[in-house]
Amino acid sequence: MAENNTYYITTPIYYPSGKLHIGNSYTTIACDAEARFQRLEGKDVFFLTGTDEHGLKIEQKAEALNTTPKAYVDGMAEDIQKLWKLLDISNDKFIRTTDDYHEKAVQKIFQQLLDQGDIYLGEYEGWYSVSDEEYFTESQLAEVYRDQDGKVIGGKAPSGNEVELVKEESYFFKMSKYADWLLDYYQTHPNFIQPASRMNEMINNFIKPGLEDLAVTRTGFKWGVPILNDPKHVIYVWIDALSNYITALGYGSDDDGNFKKFWPANVHMVGKEIVRFHTIYWPIMLHALGLEQPDQIYGHGWLLMKDSKMSKSKGNVIYPETIVENYGLDALRYYLLKAMPYGNDGNFTPEDFISKINFDLANDLGNLLNRTVAMINKYEGGVIPTFQSSVNAVDKDLEDTAATTIKNYEELMNDLHFADALAEIWKLVARTNKYIDETTPWILARNDDDESKQKLASVMNHLAESLRVIAILIQPMMTQSPAKIFEQLGLDPKGLELNNLKFGMIPASTKVVEKGTPIFPRLDVDKEVEFLKNKMTKSDKKKGRAAMAETSKSQPVETDGKKEIRIEAFDKVELRVASVLEVGPVEGADKLLKFKLDAGDDQPRQILSGIAKYYPDPSVLVGKKVVIVANLKPRKMRGEMSQGMILSTENDGNVNVVMVDENHQNGDVLA
Ligand code: MSP
Repeated sequence: MAENNTYYITTPIYYPSGKLHIGNSYTTIACDAEARFQRLEGKDVFFLTGTDEHGLKIEQKAEALNTTPKAYVDGMAEDIQKLWKLLDISNDKFIRTTDDYHEKAVQKIFQQLLDQGDIYLGEYEGWYSVSDEEYFTESQLAEVYRDQDGKVIGGKAPSGNEVELVKEESYFFKMSKYADWLLDYYQTHPNFIQPASRMNEMINNFIKPGLEDLAVTRTGFKWGVPILNDPKHVIYVWIDALSNYITALGYGSDDDGNFKKFWPANVHMVGKEIVRFHTIYWPIMLHALGLEQPDQIYGHGWLLMKDSKMSKSKGNVIYPETIVENYGLDALRYYLLKAMPYGNDGNFTPEDFISKINFDLANDLGNLLNRTVAMINKYEGGVIPTFQSSVNAVDKDLEDTAATTIKNYEELMNDLHFADALAEIWKLVARTNKYIDETTPWILARNDDDESKQKLASVMNHLAESLRVIAILIQPMMTQSPAKIFEQLGLDPKGLELNNLKFGMIPASTKVVEKGTPIFPRLDVDKEVEFLKNKMTKSDKKKGRAAMAETSKSQPVETDGKKEIRIEAFDKVELRVASVLEVGPVEGADKLLKFKLDAGDDQPRQILSGIAKYYPDPSVLVGKKVVIVANLKPRKMRGEMSQGMILSTENDGNVNVVMVDENHQNGDVLA
């Protein structure tokens, strides 16, 4: 049982299969913000992050690089830790699943589950996606390929990756045995999964249809934790990975002091795609081991680029190092925490990023500090006047706004509502800026009477107090600016404490710096947007059709390496919805498929498309609504006429025809 004053928070452990981008950085920064906030609240915090280093993908990656898996993950884990340093991540521990103590504890956990009959030996047959490292049942596949007799011969996972049929001896975890217990646990712990809507998703999509036993070992690769008594089996990633949350605290080792002190966790924060593993398999595992459940699993949304998930193959990745190097760490931390609404997806666009730096940071906060320091120098000889409460109604209103902000902030931060907490702080920033306009210090300074002088002194004090409170509040999110604000106000950064969150705490005779420097320089929008777009454009350019299919019109256009065009150029292209009436091979041309489509014309239209390789059973396309370029000059291919082009996307070597839903009528024009 964890001690009362402790707080244990974890990130997912990241796959070291590639460089981490700003999407992965979001989870780590969000956990860091919470860990910092809880420390400010006086909690004894344990903040864990790490790397999930086993599995087939890593084995293959190392092979491709002509190195060993261990050497490969060593390098990657080092890079990731360097990144967390750069991002000021205050984790208390970094776990690697290749750490000796972890591997030993995982073997013990497995053995216990086996001994008590929760794990049994069986045979697994399923559709396996190497890229996702996950098995799928036929009904879970996003697309299936069938042979002439209708038998399923392949398909695609929901991620779009190809799957293959794999049959092997495997150990299974009896998940089914615990389904009722789990449902009951959800019911009696309504806050266990956050946001609550994700709980319904779990119940309806996975538990109610019948919880299947989970294959927990593989024999197809070696790079994993071997089972003690049957070492040809390695423990399949999820049992290995999920256990990190307890092995990092010493569970299963001689030194389990931290486990006793910190378990159960307060929050496991994860992206929405792995909520299932954390809210179904993990609670069942813990229950079977006789351990307490974490208080909460929080599944946040994705940071999207142009509405699609950030991925290297899409060429829309932006790396945190680029942002930090060019705009500073606090700009990155502020942006990510602000851009992701609680539990929902957020969007990164270069325009939005630069405008948030310019408006929220440079204008609203930076400028407020500059003006305050300049005015205190000009009107008060650089010394912050002492606090007098509510000299007039405007002062009172500012004090009240600050009090409301502080109260709401503490609630929001306790509930992981980072974007809302920032919005709340910026209400105080805005109120303080408005306070300057309302009190017109430059007019007060022209008058020589005592009342004006007293009012002016109070205004200067209130501005400094407000900035001091703001600096304290932003600390969990922004790690560098608070000390800079304190320094310019002449305050000791030791005062950056939640206890000091009320007006009237600036020591007498505090002297501001003589000349303030902008903490967030204003940026040239066009120049910086172009710079970021170039950084986001992938180097290996896509084929035209893929680029067309991916460019979204509602978002600022990222040109994917092509020259920018004017709307008139786009208008020349007629994109239409069409349904596939028939599709079949073209004699003598292995690569081509011949489509008959209803595109709203008087008669069916024929289009040839070079996608035969990707659709071994093209009949799956019959009846589907696709998008065609309708006004492409007709041309003859292999003696057959082709009147247009069918749009598709290409991703990691897979080609997918773009499909639209039934709401679109044949012949509808896309505009
Ligand atoms: N190794 C597993 C997790 C095991 S935890 C016991 C894994 N690793 S991962 O490297 O793929 O990292 C996934 C996590 O990175 C997501 O759950 C999410 O927290 C974060 N993100 C990855 N891409 C992201 C976005 N585009 N946006 C927000 N978060 C993102 O899954």
